[in-house]
Amino acid sequence: MKALILSGGKGTRLRPLTYTGAKQLVPVANKPILWYGIEGIVAAGITDIGIIISPETGEEVKVKTGDGSRFGAKITYILQSEPAGLAHAVKVARPFLGDSPFIMYLGDNLIQSQLDPFLETFNKQKLDALILLRPVPNPSAFGVAKVDENGRVLQLVEKPKVPPSNLALVGIYFFAPSIHEAIDKIQPSARGELEITDAIQNLIDREKHVEACNLDGWWLDTGKKDDLLSANQIILDSCIVASTELKVDAKSQIIGRVQIGESSEIINSTVRGPVVIGENCRIENSFIGPYSSIADRVTMIDADIEHSVILQGAKITGIHQRIVDSVIGQRAQIINAPPRPKALRFMIGDDSQIELV
Ligand code: G1P
Repeated sequence: MKALILSGGKGTRLRPLTYTGAKQLVPVANKPILWYGIEGIVAAGITDIGIIISPETGEEVKVKTGDGSRFGAKITYILQSEPAGLAHAVKVARPFLGDSPFIMYLGDNLIQSQLDPFLETFNKQKLDALILLRPVPNPSAFGVAKVDENGRVLQLVEKPKVPPSNLALVGIYFFAPSIHEAIDKIQPSARGELEITDAIQNLIDREKHVEACNLDGWWLDTGKKDDLLSANQIILDSCIVASTELKVDAKSQIIGRVQIGESSEIINSTVRGPVVIGENCRIENSFIGPYSSIADRVTMIDADIEHSVILQGAKITGIHQRIVDSVIGQRAQIINAPPRPKALRFMIGDDSQIELV
């Protein structure tokens, strides 16, 4: 069994962050989204992993993620030179996949469940494809499945205007090598892409063995700011444990579950968890409220923040109004001078600079 993780794409819904970086590298609780997928795959016992990268962001993904040794895996990077669809990505990866069955994992999906039970179903039943489904309120934003009363998959459609059900396709699929033949048979869709949903439909039409499982637990497709903030909240809630030895000065207060990285200074500040703070940060005269992730080398002086994600090297000074529900890009600066505005709400990209004067 191999794994193919898709980490290309343009990440248009997370702009401006994704003008300068891959959406799969945007951190959730200070760890790139992509790494959660890799860890889940390795935990299911799959260590031969191919990662599809794009010309725009591939180098960054490669440099940051490495050869897989940090995960106990072997990673092969595969360049998809154009964003021509998920099935096209499988085509490009064919030399890597060979005749192996594989799990295909869209790199911006985060799930709570372990992959083992699905893998077991896939292997035991010798399926051609196993898909995961989840009821959603907005099925038109996803691939949608129509299933019969026994749970058999009848039809799959990509982003339908009139959805045949509320069952969205989760971006995690299990395939036998027979998927390659199906991909060879399909044509590009109206949006000019080779759709994996069409390839699976082709398997269904030829009466191959396609099954669906319902996905329980949370599922986050981190393509948008609010999804990213929810993912951050959920991961902080479930993964952050209180550190016993936090180095802070006598005037600072740490409440609840908080993790603080090496060489970070917390001076005259209050941190109320769950919160994760990276390395080499300077937090002074500030309040950091629940569900905040502060990456490495962030400076916060006279600032007040909660339920937000702050990327590496950002600087926030003199903002006394609480910053909430915000994503602040790498090296962005928010520097305040009076008079104070009443409310602030941000989605700020890398290298931005905001001065309230
Ligand atoms: C892709 C798939 C879609 C699936 C979704 C899940 O869409 O094409 O079928 O439901 O992932 O994350 P995208 O998010 O790339 O638009």
